[in-house]
Amino acid sequence: MEEIAALAKRRGFIFQSSEIYGGLNGFWDYGPLGAVLKRNVKDAWWRDTVELRDDVVGFDSSIIMHPSIWKASGHVDAFHDVMIDCRVCKHRFRLDHVADRSQCPDCGSKDSLTEPRNFNLMMRTSIGPMEDTSSTAYLRPETAQGIFVNFKNIYQTARKRPPFGVAQIGKSFRNEITPGNFTFRQREFEQAELEYFVPDDGNDMNAFQEWVDRRKAWYASYGIKPERLRFYELAQGERPHYAKAGIDVEYLFPWGWGELESIAHRGTYDLDAHMKLSGKDLRFFDEAAKQHYTPLLIESSAGMDRTVLTFLVDAYERERSVDPNGKETERGVLRFSPRIAPVQVAVFSLARNKPELVERAAGIEAALRASFRTQYDEGNIGQLYRRQDEIGTPFCVTVDYESLDDGSVTVRERDSMRQQRVAGAGLEAFLRERL
Ligand code: GAP
Repeated sequence: MEEIAALAKRRGFIFQSSEIYGGLNGFWDYGPLGAVLKRNVKDAWWRDTVELRDDVVGFDSSIIMHPSIWKASGHVDAFHDVMIDCRVCKHRFRLDHVADRSQCPDCGSKDSLTEPRNFNLMMRTSIGPMEDTSSTAYLRPETAQGIFVNFKNIYQTARKRPPFGVAQIGKSFRNEITPGNFTFRQREFEQAELEYFVPDDGNDMNAFQEWVDRRKAWYASYGIKPERLRFYELAQGERPHYAKAGIDVEYLFPWGWGELESIAHRGTYDLDAHMKLSGKDLRFFDEAAKQHYTPLLIESSAGMDRTVLTFLVDAYERERSVDPNGKETERGVLRFSPRIAPVQVAVFSLARNKPELVERAAGIEAALRASFRTQYDEGNIGQLYRRQDEIGTPFCVTVDYESLDDGSVTVRERDSMRQQRVAGAGLEAFLRERL
């Protein structure tokens, strides 16, 4: 994990937030390549969940919403971790992380730990100029509630009837007590949530299974190693009392299995809770049956930062090989799926001081830019390959002296490191077929 975090920093994927001020625990910034990688992952989720279906619409709600929403959802009363503090070193621990309550796990002081206390995980802020209790608001700890409270607005304007879904990608905030494992547990993170509403007609578990299968296929289509991904079925005692079924999607990180996504059958719990507190009717009106009913809800909630981390960890390899001169070399490589790789094609000029080569290579890169995510570079070819391997670029195209004679270029493939000569006129088709 340390190697991957070092690569992520060195190559511009992920930086510690506020680094020059010593950093801020639980917050991260995405660098030039990380921003593209994250966007690609989000687009891939959105494409599969929204654009490729006619029964899912998009949504984008505000981060700060009426505080009553969090009362109705149960977050004000029940979204907390149980904590204990050390009176000596002032460190705070989650109760379930402390094996022996007679001794501080950090400083070792005897009998210094306080009684357990509830610590609410919602981030607080205040609205307007007065900081009193009437102005208290929360940064959302999940995006889903924005969809539930808008359920009626959405189905009426989108002219949808259950079964149909609403999808949203956006920032969520949780005042996690123990952020860590790189970007795995953060205090500000991004979620991609799908809320799929179905009629109570006996087909709800089929809808649940369809989403489980679809999400499985999504991870597989981006090449996530199947032996490192599991769909863990929650037993009755492990899921909330109102949930009829629940599956945690987990990835085997270097420190063990970690949750990427939760898929849950939440019944009518969320809409019921908001109807009760707001007094507003959020039921669906079935025109044909002339009847109101509250649809059941299937939710898939994936963390985008955790998904990006999964793509990074899953793609990363250190590889030893022997170069054409018989010398043993080692390289770090990110074997990203070409569809999410931040750079898909890098184009190089063999020398930076030969204007004809530079011009030709830059021209090829500019032409390919319309079709692929490209990058131009020049200099020592060995170093350029090394860099592109480390950022996960599937193809490198090199313009050399032969290119000036016959227009051909060398194309080198990331995974096999195989190089082949390709005619300039056929280059785009060659790459398109493989990307
Ligand atoms: N609306 C349901 C919900 O929020 P959750 O299991 O609490 O369910 C869903 O969160 C996903 O959000 C998790 O599987 C995880 O990927 C991501 N997530 C939750 N807390 C996170 C954190 N502190 N840092 C990064 N991602 C987090």
